[in-house]
Amino acid sequence: MCGIVGYVGNQPAEGVLLNGLKRLEYRGYDSSGIATLDDKEQPHLVRAVGKIAELEKALIKTPLTGNMGIGHTRWATHGGVTVENAHPHHVENVFLVHNGIIENFKDIKAFLKKQKFNSDTDSEVLAALINHYYKNGTKLEDAVAKALKKVRGTYGIAVFSPLEPGKIVTARLGSPLVIGLGNGETIIASDASALLGYTRKAIYLNDGEMAVCTADKVNVFDLSLKVVDNSPEEIEGDASQIQKGGYDHFLLKEIMEQPTTLLNTLSGRVDAKKGTLRLGGPNLTPSEINKIEHVVIVGCGTAYYAGLLASYYMEQLVPNLTTEVVVASEYRYRSFHLPKNSVALVVSQSGETADTLACLREIKKRGVKTFGIVNVVGSTIAREVDGGTYIYAGPEMSVASTKAFTAQAVAMLIFAGMLAGHRGGDPAKLHQLAEELVALPDEIAKVLKKHQGQIEKLAKKYAKYEDAFFLGRDTAYPIALEGALKLKEISYIHAEGYASGELKHGPIALVDETFFEVFSILDNWLFEKSIGGLQEVRARGGRAIVFTDSKREIEADDVVRIDTDIKMITPLLINVLQQLFAYYVAVKRGNDVDQPRNLAKSVTVE
Ligand code: F6R
Repeated sequence: MCGIVGYVGNQPAEGVLLNGLKRLEYRGYDSSGIATLDDKEQPHLVRAVGKIAELEKALIKTPLTGNMGIGHTRWATHGGVTVENAHPHHVENVFLVHNGIIENFKDIKAFLKKQKFNSDTDSEVLAALINHYYKNGTKLEDAVAKALKKVRGTYGIAVFSPLEPGKIVTARLGSPLVIGLGNGETIIASDASALLGYTRKAIYLNDGEMAVCTADKVNVFDLSLKVVDNSPEEIEGDASQIQKGGYDHFLLKEIMEQPTTLLNTLSGRVDAKKGTLRLGGPNLTPSEINKIEHVVIVGCGTAYYAGLLASYYMEQLVPNLTTEVVVASEYRYRSFHLPKNSVALVVSQSGETADTLACLREIKKRGVKTFGIVNVVGSTIAREVDGGTYIYAGPEMSVASTKAFTAQAVAMLIFAGMLAGHRGGDPAKLHQLAEELVALPDEIAKVLKKHQGQIEKLAKKYAKYEDAFFLGRDTAYPIALEGALKLKEISYIHAEGYASGELKHGPIALVDETFFEVFSILDNWLFEKSIGGLQEVRARGGRAIVFTDSKREIEADDVVRIDTDIKMITPLLINVLQQLFAYYVAVKRGNDVDQPRNLAKSVTVE
């Protein structure tokens, strides 16, 4: 949440910072700003409310000179969306951008007594505290360290002062920061995607670390200013992955590229001929695998739904295993107990979600082994888990998660298959799973190609509704939840996902001709029961769209029949069509599909 960039080097800073902010805009987009320091040691500051395009316009009127500076794109936490609340903040000589929340900002304000504030933000209070210690020739890093020792909360910061040109001080606690090491230039960002195209070498700051950055050097310290050994790492990916590649929106690109990204998720992990599935990351010996009694899967939003889907398969495939899927924001505060021989799967696209990270730490405290199912390489969760696997879906730029869901589910299915393979799971089922996973990229490509036009038409028809139910049973139930989440996030249609069997226990009271329902009906042992739910809805005037892999007769307003040889993991095919449906509904309603209102990618605050 919120994006930070910083630059010190040999190029005009404004362009680099603006480019970085555009790449980070998906992390928050209600206001933004840039501050630079010019050759004459004069600071300049421009801020604007709205998207980065507004800042860009302001910078045309007031260009900023200088080869160093800091920038920020905001997702408001403290204080409304105004120019005054936008970052960078400055208090006398301290210019600061901040991600996170300073929880004790009121105490700090009281401590600073006479200080006047121009904004309602906790971030300006932090700038004032640093300024308080930045007196009488103190070095900026000393003042930052002193201030941070007084702070309770989370932060990723970049700070400069006109009194110490050529230097940017950064620090992190609970909010990511990565420092790119270029040739005579240093680029700081809250997300490695902002560094792509500039450098491949970067230092990922750990919690409790700070760094003094100049054009040629980066020194990392702890808050006692003791030097810390934090070696540079290679950043993966290339700049083309964070461009739209000819599509109108990142969301559409990310839906359509799933066949390719899945090849990366599957690569070297599934052998369809032998029926073997293997994830290298967890590093479990066969005897450790045999001992596992319980799997708890933790995530938020889409990651949680991917976990829920995987849990159905785990139960079906792995003998003598119990599973539990939990929402991280709740679990972190529950007095939970985990049975002996539990393992935890920690699922997160960004690898930075605050609640999921907090759960990971709580689970580790209880001595339970944790495995990450993470997309962003080098992210905090990926670094803190005991083992794990990357899903290799590539950068997901659209705020709504699509390709990551599919890849997360697939990675966890491989995990389930690996467990089943060692624990006497049914070999026929394992063979089927392995074959279907290997076939999935092509099947997704086929389904997208065949149904794209039909889904676009359906979306136009249903875009006028304001309420929707998504319904499914068994493995189609998590897909119903995910379908509803996707639709509400980007179309702003009120959409709820339910297990179809729950309809009669309350929700059906809402069904009338103003609602539409999306049923996912699988051609399995629950087919007739699912049709029963559909008929009950239609009898009450509800409009129904059915996604199905069945050739049997189905009466509904619209039926999308998926023609596929896949049987076991069909929900993943239905889900990509639901993603397309949400996309086209949102486009029809004229919404900003990549950056929907009130949302931000990577929820790094509670
Ligand atoms: C939905 C969505 C969110 C995220 C959730 C977890 O489209 O994007 O629900 O899935 O915030 O994020 P990660 O996976 O980054 O932990």
